[in-house]
Amino acid sequence: MNNNPIIKVENLTHIYSPGTPFQVVSLEGISLEIARGEFFAVIGSTGSGKSTLVQHFNGILAPAKGKIWVCGADISDKRQRRDLWRRVGLVFQQPEQQLFEETVFDDVAFGPRNMGFDQDEVKRRVEKALQQMGLDPATVSGVPPFRLSGGMRRKVAIAGVLAMTPEVLILDEPAAGLDPQGRKQLMDLVEDFRREEGVTMVLVTHNMEEAALWTDRMAVLDKGRLVMEGSTREVFNKAGELRALGLNVPAPAQLMCKLRAAGKQVRTDVLTNEEAVEEIARLLSET
Ligand SMILES: Nc1ncnc2c1ncn2[C@@H]1O[C@H](COP(=O)(O)OP(=O)(O)OP(=O)(O)O)[C@@H](O)[C@H]1O
Ligand SMILES: [Mg+2]
Repeated sequence: MNNNPIIKVENLTHIYSPGTPFQVVSLEGISLEIARGEFFAVIGSTGSGKSTLVQHFNGILAPAKGKIWVCGADISDKRQRRDLWRRVGLVFQQPEQQLFEETVFDDVAFGPRNMGFDQDEVKRRVEKALQQMGLDPATVSGVPPFRLSGGMRRKVAIAGVLAMTPEVLILDEPAAGLDPQGRKQLMDLVEDFRREEGVTMVLVTHNMEEAALWTDRMAVLDKGRLVMEGSTREVFNKAGELRALGLNVPAPAQLMCKLRAAGKQVRTDVLTNEEAVEEIARLLSET
């Protein structure tokens, strides 16, 4: 593992409403590291603590117990945590509900303005971020966000974070609720941004195909605990364990597992359709 991780979590515990009858221990004893430049996924069933975990990465939440360092800052320290929003961008689950400015331009400009850039630089950043999200600045800048479709509002919300050019970009279910074409388009745009800007990415997702296609390494949460961590291929090769946690492996890997169960000697650690096709072609050529 990289000696100098950009995010390091040590024995993190988080409790919502501590000391009240509503107390929830949402994370317990989590330790993990994310390397600079890595595309990291956090998966797990509903309520497993994914959103709670990633909200610690830009200092919105502070640990009840344990330590977290992000970009060298110790986030238990209020002063060090304060400036993290400039360097670590978090796009919340359903961010389209958080657009509150009168125009798309003002919404995307919110972050860069707070960072203290002058008007020209703010404009340059807003236009670039809208373009990076596949939106035409001339068409959408003056539109009130509520007039846009859900998918477009989502893109505007993401653009608002891209406009701050963060070192780490955290996306909590960015493509949830979009149709398959919309999902693919959004993830392609995100991947282009990642490559262009060289950012470290953390993706929270329920979509296993997406995790398989894009990410290098993954953490799997279950009831607030870290139950697996490893390369995406390693984790998805544990179909049985994932199933026991209520999770699936990507469809191509499911197919390989079924072929294996039927006695065919195929690799089960495939991640994509292309890899599955290759494996089936090999099987056919041998028979
Ligand atoms: N603001 C809150 N106050 C109290 N409990 C909360 C709060 N937010 C989350 N929880 C609880 O903490 C646990 C973890 O929730 P979290 O939202 O992190 O899960 P998640 O993995 O992101 O779920 P999902 O896949 O549904 O988004 C759950 O039991 C949830 O009910
Ligand atoms: Mg969540």
